[in-house]
Amino acid sequence: MTDTTTASSLPATLRQTPTPALVVHLPTFDRNMATMAESWPGPSLRPHVKAFKSTAMARRLADAGHTSFCAATPREIEGLVAAGLGDDVLLANETLDAARLGRISDHAQITVAVDSDVTLDAAIHGGVRSVLIDVEVGLPRCGCDVDDAARLADLARAAGLDVRGVMGYEGHLMMVMDRADRARRVEAAMEILLTAHASVGGTIVSGGGTGTFDTNRWCTELQAGSYLLMDNQYDTLDLPFEKSLSLMGTVISVSAKGWIVVDAGLKALGMDHGNPTWDHGDVFFCSDEHTTLLPREPGEWSVGDRVHLWPGHVDPTVARHEQFWVVDGLDADDVVLDRWPIDLRHW
Ligand SMILES: Cc1ncc(COP(=O)(O)O)c(C=O)c1O
Repeated sequence: MTDTTTASSLPATLRQTPTPALVVHLPTFDRNMATMAESWPGPSLRPHVKAFKSTAMARRLADAGHTSFCAATPREIEGLVAAGLGDDVLLANETLDAARLGRISDHAQITVAVDSDVTLDAAIHGGVRSVLIDVEVGLPRCGCDVDDAARLADLARAAGLDVRGVMGYEGHLMMVMDRADRARRVEAAMEILLTAHASVGGTIVSGGGTGTFDTNRWCTELQAGSYLLMDNQYDTLDLPFEKSLSLMGTVISVSAKGWIVVDAGLKALGMDHGNPTWDHGDVFFCSDEHTTLLPREPGEWSVGDRVHLWPGHVDPTVARHEQFWVVDGLDADDVVLDRWPIDLRHW
């Protein structure tokens, strides 16, 4: 769909909203926001925008006191800054494209994660002013060895950069099902990060996510983002957050053989965590533009009905859409309250 709808021309109800469409249930979203704020109030939470990629949503968080953000791509940082949300933004990821962030550093406080001489050089030569030393705490992804952290910090300071502290993302522990096991392993991961912090200095120890929000007690700030919208994967954990994001489709075909077909397929969904789910029956299979559903009560469904699917993985689902439609009820006749553009997509 072309991104031409403005707030003044919102569809009146969900029935008038073009599908496939991402729908945010605002009361649930706000409950998730409040629940997280009880544990991580104000700037102690650095919401990660990678999960929702929307400055409108980031603005709602800022209005609730969460004024610092982290991001996974330079594009997300640029978008936050352009929207006036650049009070304290962290690229919690490595980049060689640091000059893009250096160019906007007069308008924002931008900090970049570095884990090597090369990424540090890119930050220095790109005009970035602040860094965190990114330390590997068990996830085989970015992050320097704990023993290399002090050396990188010294190099950064010698080049005139502000080393604000360390970050270490324990992403490999987010889905540890047993809470006690998760807590024990998070503590071990954070011991590595605190060792690095002792040698690096600075005031920030940044890490954590939705899955470890209540077991990580060592970070000075938490980098969670998925908790706002949630998804089927995170919903299998013992977390106090509920799914506020659904993918709405329209029934376009009803078979006498017992299945129905909606116009929302895998091109509208991140599928890396499996098929979406449906409250009224089983998801048979997804194809490009279709999902075939097996309703528990086949006779109850007609062409034109609206259905809500629950995505398996929030981040890649959101990245496929241009907007969220905001509602306080999921019935087809419920009023569309707002449209939040997903304006931080792409790179
Ligand atoms: C660096 C980093 N920090 C934090 C997170 C936590 O995000 P979530 O809220 O999805 O657990 C992620 C997610 O991928 C990440 O990559």
